[in-house]
Amino acid sequence: MNNRSAKISALPHVFIFPLPLQGPVNCMLKLAQLLSQQDIRVTFLNTQHIHQRLLNCTDHTNHFKRYANLRFETLPDGLPEENPRTGDQIVNLLASVEIVAAPIFRQMVTAGDYGPESEAPVTCIIADGIFTFAHGVAAEIGVPLLYFDTISPCGLWSYICLPKLIEAGELPFRDDNLDEMIINTPGMEGILRRRDLPSFCRAKDLDDPVLKVILKEDEHIPLAQGLIFNTFQELEGPILSQMSNICPNIYAIGPLTVIENARFEVETTMSSTSIWKEDMSCISWLDVQPARSVVYVSIGSLVIVTKEDFLELWHGLVNSGSRFLWVQRQGSVIGGLKGLETPVELAQWTKERGYIVSWAPQQQVLAHPAVGAFFTHSGWNSTLESIVAGKPMICWPYGVDQQVNSRYVEQVWKLGLDMKDMCDRVVIERMIKEVMGSRKDEFLERAGRLAKLAKASVEEGGSSFRDLDRLVDDIKSMRI
Ligand code: UDX
Repeated sequence: MNNRSAKISALPHVFIFPLPLQGPVNCMLKLAQLLSQQDIRVTFLNTQHIHQRLLNCTDHTNHFKRYANLRFETLPDGLPEENPRTGDQIVNLLASVEIVAAPIFRQMVTAGDYGPESEAPVTCIIADGIFTFAHGVAAEIGVPLLYFDTISPCGLWSYICLPKLIEAGELPFRDDNLDEMIINTPGMEGILRRRDLPSFCRAKDLDDPVLKVILKEDEHIPLAQGLIFNTFQELEGPILSQMSNICPNIYAIGPLTVIENARFEVETTMSSTSIWKEDMSCISWLDVQPARSVVYVSIGSLVIVTKEDFLELWHGLVNSGSRFLWVQRQGSVIGGLKGLETPVELAQWTKERGYIVSWAPQQQVLAHPAVGAFFTHSGWNSTLESIVAGKPMICWPYGVDQQVNSRYVEQVWKLGLDMKDMCDRVVIERMIKEVMGSRKDEFLERAGRLAKLAKASVEEGGSSFRDLDRLVDDIKSMRI
């Protein structure tokens, strides 16, 4: 064995490329950290925009301590700095990553510092499932590609069924009846109505740009050597078993937030992967609120709402009589809040019983005993974090996988109520009263049971624990 092959066989080298958005970066960073503690060399590819924001939000000593075993590389995402990178920009972001970032990524792993002739050649690529270009790059250097789709498997499965729905004439919808049941989504029989499919399915024709991106993803997902998911068997077993029909090698290693804690001593101050600065003052506010009296309200990192919906939500919250902690992310209201006339009764109630921050330490908030329920946009990270914390949900989904997630929360897991397509103060008030009051015990009992299963799955011998071990073993056996 010459020197180079001795080095090569010494350490497997995983190259991780996340979709540059808060949710996917959260998941991929946690996975990167887990792998890097297992004698696996890990290189994490961030866009400059995301990397700078991560650094701005973390104490630098903590950052370097926490990621001591990781190597970061950065590249441009191709968008102008002033682009807000909100949900309405996703198609632009994807196009720009493909044009600007993908060739740099290819150069790095095929010829650059990480190419087959380098000191530390890449032996496995883990990329976001939407990065269809990663397949060609992995094939070019002859290494396995694992797709990590950080959205929910139930959401992804609805994407994968789209060609079937088109073939069967279920898509595009033939009329405006959104309550019609969907048939051609195996494993989801009797669950999804048209309105529960991702919102891009409401497009009038198949030329819709988002639909095209997803159909391309559908073609590439089965080409990977394995699929990694942030979920656990006890939550999505039937969906994972459907998924194994298109790719037999499935690793369900979630919930990543708790698997990380189960494997390492992670100080809370070091566990954040936020790209916004967390306002910790809300924890002191929660500390003096009665048990289970507060509704935590957040619509994640990408959703933007109209002023009308914002006001409707505010009225609903106040009319419900509950206390609330509300994350009003900067830029999340179209046109901003300037000039918005605040009704006196809303301002008064908010001063007495509400608390507003621009970004919260969400996992700590959800775990707090004062929080009784989560009013959420049903992003997958938020949904799983709520499940782990045992908190019931009121779901107000917007896009991506959120329509499917919210349907599963109400219909399958019975952890709360799905408010989709109805932003009305009366509905909001009623749902909060149900979840916090009249049906509280029923939801809490289910949420408590599922939280226990989530935690058990990451403990030694649990389903996610075993899948993570298998993933580590498989990566270690990959050689070029
Ligand atoms: C996006 C899509 O919206 C979602 O549907 C998909 O599943 C993943 O990509 P995002 O909108 O960011 O994600 O929602 P979500 O997946 O819930 O992730 C938000 C993350 O931000 C969570 O980990 C949450 O803990 C964190 N967060 C949110 C905070 O830390 N503080 C906040 O104040 C709000």
